[in-house]
Amino acid sequence: MIKPKPLLTISAPEGDTSLKALTPREIVEKLDQYIIGQGDAKRAVAIALRNRWRRQNVSAELGEEISPKNIIMIGPTGVGKTEIARRLAKLDNAPFLKVEASKFTEVGYVGRDVESMIRDLVELAINMAKAEEQDKVRAKATTLAEEALLDVLLPPKPLERSVGDMMSDDKEAPAGEAERQRREDTTREKLRRFLHEGRLDGRYVEIEVSEQRSGPMIEIFSTAGIEDMGMNIKELFGNMFPPKKKKCRVMVPEALEILTQEQAQALVDMEKVTRTAVRRVEQSGIVFLDEIDKIVGGDSGHGPDVSREGVQRDLLPIVEGSTVNTRHGMVKTDHILFIAAGAFSASKPSDLIPELQGRFPIRVELDSLGREEFIRILTEPHNALITQYIEMLATEGVRLSFTDEAVAEIAEVAAIVNERTENIGARRLYTIMETLLDDISFDAPDLTDKVVVIDAEQVREKLEDIIEDEDLSRYIL
Ligand SMILES: Nc1ncnc2c1ncn2[C@@H]1O[C@H](COP(=O)(O)OP(=O)(O)OP(=O)(O)O)[C@@H](O)[C@H]1O
Ligand SMILES: [Mg+2]
Repeated sequence: MIKPKPLLTISAPEGDTSLKALTPREIVEKLDQYIIGQGDAKRAVAIALRNRWRRQNVSAELGEEISPKNIIMIGPTGVGKTEIARRLAKLDNAPFLKVEASKFTEVGYVGRDVESMIRDLVELAINMAKAEEQDKVRAKATTLAEEALLDVLLPPKPLERSVGDMMSDDKEAPAGEAERQRREDTTREKLRRFLHEGRLDGRYVEIEVSEQRSGPMIEIFSTAGIEDMGMNIKELFGNMFPPKKKKCRVMVPEALEILTQEQAQALVDMEKVTRTAVRRVEQSGIVFLDEIDKIVGGDSGHGPDVSREGVQRDLLPIVEGSTVNTRHGMVKTDHILFIAAGAFSASKPSDLIPELQGRFPIRVELDSLGREEFIRILTEPHNALITQYIEMLATEGVRLSFTDEAVAEIAEVAAIVNERTENIGARRLYTIMETLLDDISFDAPDLTDKVVVIDAEQVREKLEDIIEDEDLSRYIL
């Protein structure tokens, strides 16, 4: 059952929602809650984020001239590059898009040009702005929805007034009519009270809702790049088939929710939403270009891949600042911040074409992770792996815990395996934890002794054989 939302939601004043002015120090502190170490990278993104705010507070004339200092994060796999970007996105209310640079070289994406990432960013910003606007009109929508629902519960009778009544300039309805109206009003108020008190919650009502117009088929089309033709397919089809109404029987609270949603949608001024969204993208959009190292180097030589260098060239104008044509109008990319990341294990940032290198003036290196970091990663972050397992098993009534020595041992094993085989960073912890807790995960519902304490000895026992045998650990861990 959908719970009715609170009547009023407080949203930030128009315009500055993207600029919750966190100081660099505060940004780093927030990131620290999820990512261990990697101080340099955190500092760099924190400064970049703060710089957007600074730019918006200098004179408009100068602000135009200040371009963002794009960042490249360099570091081995699994050390937190993507994680930093993800957390950053949540911190800042700015439109944020993460794309894999390599996707523009893949066969399936031929024809999906690099500009599409700006279009995606705009779509995303539109959805954000729309949700905010809907929140703002929520109170009004709720009132309207309530009236609409009362109309359904107690259909208003058409006024039975004879022609004679209308002709005579008599404003007063006949006595019988007034009486009927009064009775109806009191019934309506009574129903309203019941509704507020939740006494109608168990009842079904039949309401009319407009059907979602965009069928899944159209979605598939548009992701295949039709939107690139600058055509608004959805609206095109939408206008051909006006919104269909369909009747559905739902419980009262859900009906209220659906009606509120419909009213909110109708109340939102889409033109304003579009304007806000485009401005936000232009002023505070962030594009995270992951796997940038995958577009380094010459053509792969085999297969019909799009030239990697070609992708780099295509990126140039967008990163530097150009105007991209989207469904919602022209969007200038001059002030969009680009954060690129790559492992650069087989290549170096200097292997990028010089023009592109020049457009990413800030380089930060992320450190590879060792035993000490693993201990902290296992236990400290809000979403720490150990916490995740404990909570998951708690749902089965199992009280799982780890001794400090056990955690240290797990970290040690992860470090050793990373050293001996491939260094996959913190992701190694995932495989190790899974192997370690394999039995418990399987048996949890059947355990009679619901208290499980993992100590160092158990860790060693469970993982020893696998670590000893390097080939085996290649397969299992
Ligand atoms: N420093 C860290 N602190 C906490 N968790 C981390 C850290 N580094 C990595 N992790 C965890 O490891 C996982 C992989 O990290 P992430 O996706 O950031 O790797 P990456 O650096 O982007 O690697 P790749 O180059 O393979 O894309 C994530 O789930 C993340 O939570
Ligand atoms: Mg990554």
